[in-house]
Amino acid sequence: MQLRMQKIGALIFRVTKNNMSLILKNIKNCVTWDSERGGMLIHENIDIAIEKDQIVEMGAHLGSADHAIDCSKNLVTPGFVDSHTHPVFLEGREKEFSMRLQGVSYEEIARAGGGIVSSVSGVREASEEMLIKKMTERMDTFLSLGTTTIEAKSGYGLDKDSELKSLSVIDKVNQAHAIDIHPTFMGAHAIPQEFKNDPNAYVQLICEEMLPAVRKQGIAEYCDVFCENGYFSSDMSKKILLTAKEHGLKIRLHADEFQNSLAANLAGELNAVSADHLMAISDEGIRALKENNVIATLLPGTTFFLGKTEYAPYAKMKALGLDIALATDFNPGSCHIQSMPFILSLACIYLKMDILDAIKATTVMGAKALQVEDEKGSLEVGKKADIVIWDLVDPVQIPYSVSKDCIDTVIKNGKIFKNS
Ligand code: NIG
Ligand code: FE
Repeated sequence: MQLRMQKIGALIFRVTKNNMSLILKNIKNCVTWDSERGGMLIHENIDIAIEKDQIVEMGAHLGSADHAIDCSKNLVTPGFVDSHTHPVFLEGREKEFSMRLQGVSYEEIARAGGGIVSSVSGVREASEEMLIKKMTERMDTFLSLGTTTIEAKSGYGLDKDSELKSLSVIDKVNQAHAIDIHPTFMGAHAIPQEFKNDPNAYVQLICEEMLPAVRKQGIAEYCDVFCENGYFSSDMSKKILLTAKEHGLKIRLHADEFQNSLAANLAGELNAVSADHLMAISDEGIRALKENNVIATLLPGTTFFLGKTEYAPYAKMKALGLDIALATDFNPGSCHIQSMPFILSLACIYLKMDILDAIKATTVMGAKALQVEDEKGSLEVGKKADIVIWDLVDPVQIPYSVSKDCIDTVIKNGKIFKNS
């Protein structure tokens, strides 16, 4: 069957009819989480049948469909679920990158008025249309890199109107783009300049004005706080997150990124869905996550991009049996990385993660960190048809290939995006 072609960013989108059936034939290796077994599984020589946006059958030698893709030489995995990104900003911060190359640290740049707050004027001044354009380009790139579901935070507006504008940008891009986007309000990303001398007044503004307005706007699913010495203390974070809960938002935290700030303990106490970063987490913090079923989301791209050497203590977390997700933390400052395949390489090389654990952490665990694991993150009958077909055969070739683009096709909700 001949499909109409259309270009979207770096992708050729083969336009499929809504009710078209699709079959991936004779997949060489299909790697996925398997709910029944409660573990990762490699299916060999299997077909996947798709109708509309759903996987309807998996097995050997299934019947025909409107469109078939021969996968006899391919590895197939679920699409990546990137559960931690900051994609609503205007311009990059290459100047700070250059400063870091001269030896100035991320923390020193932030104390000197750079860092997160330096992205704020861009977002405050930009029109919604301009931010939509920028974010859409970024989503095209994410999709071409195999990411089919993503979380997106506000947090470069830092005043009520600009935070609401950022959430509105996320919502509009979500409606128009193939990628599924989960919106997070992160007004507590940094203390804006105008509140530098009175941070508690900013916390009050978040609790009394921003959060009620965010609830009224009705877009955000989550509230996130940068709980870190020098940003939002554990007490400030607790106040914001408890208020967010009262307003019906689920919570997640940037926790113990640079110093042990008791943020993981707070994530446990408040039953956050996920605690992220965790480079400086204490043993007690690890136990708090385990005891309260908080997912540990590791972001090795940030450690790498900042030129740091202390990665999150993955071995300890694994030994204690934590649920572990991996995400990019894509942002203009501390981690200008969009590629989940590259994050897989970093996780295997620096965290010493086993390849199947790394695929689990970037797919089904990412989905769990967004509470969508019932429909996404694995290739099973009844799940969404969110799939990556690789120009590879063996799963270990994903991290091994480091910077090479090895993605042949991305299927999102049953629609085919061929990598051009
Ligand atoms: O997740 N840690 C806090 N926020 C971002 C950094 C954002 C920026 O530098 O613009 C992060 O690393
Ligand atoms: Fe982040």
